[in-house]
Amino acid sequence: TILVLDFGSQFSHLIIRRLRELNVYAEMFPCTQKIADLAWKPKGVILSGSPYSVYDADAPHVDPAVFDLGVPILGVCYGLQEIAWNHGKNVCAGDRKEYGHSVLNVARHTSAAPHVDALFEGIDDEMDVWMSHGDKLGALPPGFLTIATTANAPYAGIAHAERKLYGVQFHPEVTHTTKGKELLSNFAVKLCGAEQNWTMDLFVETEIERIRQTVGPTGQVIGAVSGGVDSTVAAKLMQKAIGDRFHAILVDNGVMRLNECETVHKTLTQHLGINLTVVDASAEFLARLKGVEEPEQKRKIIGNLFIEVFQREADRVMKESGGNVDFLLQGTLYPDVIESLSFKGPSATIKTHHNVGGLPANMKLKVIEPLRELFKDEVRIMGTNLGIPEELVWRHPFPGPGIAIRIVGEVTPDQIRIARQADHIFISEIMAAGLYRQISQAYAALLPVRAVGVMGDKRVYDQCIALRAVTTTDYMTADWFDFDGKFLRKVSTRIVNEVDGVCRVLYDVTQKPPGTIEFQ
Ligand code: XMP
Repeated sequence: TILVLDFGSQFSHLIIRRLRELNVYAEMFPCTQKIADLAWKPKGVILSGSPYSVYDADAPHVDPAVFDLGVPILGVCYGLQEIAWNHGKNVCAGDRKEYGHSVLNVARHTSAAPHVDALFEGIDDEMDVWMSHGDKLGALPPGFLTIATTANAPYAGIAHAERKLYGVQFHPEVTHTTKGKELLSNFAVKLCGAEQNWTMDLFVETEIERIRQTVGPTGQVIGAVSGGVDSTVAAKLMQKAIGDRFHAILVDNGVMRLNECETVHKTLTQHLGINLTVVDASAEFLARLKGVEEPEQKRKIIGNLFIEVFQREADRVMKESGGNVDFLLQGTLYPDVIESLSFKGPSATIKTHHNVGGLPANMKLKVIEPLRELFKDEVRIMGTNLGIPEELVWRHPFPGPGIAIRIVGEVTPDQIRIARQADHIFISEIMAAGLYRQISQAYAALLPVRAVGVMGDKRVYDQCIALRAVTTTDYMTADWFDFDGKFLRKVSTRIVNEVDGVCRVLYDVTQKPPGTIEFQ
């Protein structure tokens, strides 16, 4: 195992990610981790980047014992400066900050000890790297050699002449550094001797064991499922670990897609053997949404009522099961873990974005998040390995407030019907055309705008549907999908003909930013 010590860089988790791609197992701890308290001895240590400067009064620092472990250490960006700080403290603000692409020149030292050149072994003398730093080394720390430079960074890479201590100013963990993975492989596999035996199946086994240990032989767990890939994979993992002691709850909020509750119910119970209760709270949701047009208010109403219903169900499960439900399952993924400044002390540890909008403090349930180290594509691999049907594994994301935020204006049963039918036609046609996986997210929104049309020689004055389909990797930026005209013509004809109340179909050609993916 490689130990990654996190100083709060936004890229820290990518280090773990790249190592996993090399089948190397790594664990990340806050940089303040006391080395004596580690239950295992790492084969090597990587120090991450950080938003801090090492010379700041409140800057985070490693336990100096890390340098006595006798294992190879690689410092990335701030990590390099932290190594230099521990070897003479000569770090200062650079004259120029350096962000983005840079060309790195590797400096080889054939006459030095072989480990000095090992980090760049098999990598060309010139490589593209990605930088993000404002500080620099004032001088080479004593005992170190320069192993790489850029036009602006004379110490872009350093290695200790005798010990396996390395620092790089660039970020090998980001994909823009073209040979970054090779460099990490040189470090972890060649220099640290880490085994390349990490697999998703092994991860699943370890997680199942960890869940069993945490929950104990009689403990029970509840969790909300939505039919999305994250909550389903988390639920299946739970079911494998503790069977029917996991209680899954699907809340029908009345604003799910056409036939969604039935489909999810069938897949989860019949196919995946999950102990699931479907709670039909649609009437309650619709009653509270009556007359509400403002999008944020819709979100709040749905989020709050969700918590109420879920809590009610949790109480029921607790009563029926004799009371010992102590855990709440959440399908949180790594990207949801938005705050990684975890070294700031226990009170400010990682903040998570809960799909359910946070749960009331009086529930006193401990949270279990078995997917919190994973990225979406890894969850999909896990889901496939766990036998979850392909349609579900590759499902587009669907927001908690559902089609309520895709209906502009008041959410009434008739508006829901129109939005659902139009959406169903659009998605079915996307699937039939084999385009579903090329698109990251697609849906039909219902606009309160009316337009005039002629249908069967009669004048109609009906609503407009806006189709939205985007491609994105991270959902932070997105582009609209370039359908061909024939496809759009077919969808528009079907919607106008088959959905009562619609006489016009529009296609949204707005990028994000400025447009968000959802309409509201
Ligand atoms: P926007 O509209 O902000 O959406 O570009 C980005 C992604 O987030 C999803 N989204 C939500 N997911 N609860 C959710 O669980 C929400 O309230 C919510 N709002 C937006 C959206 O579907 C897209 O994938």
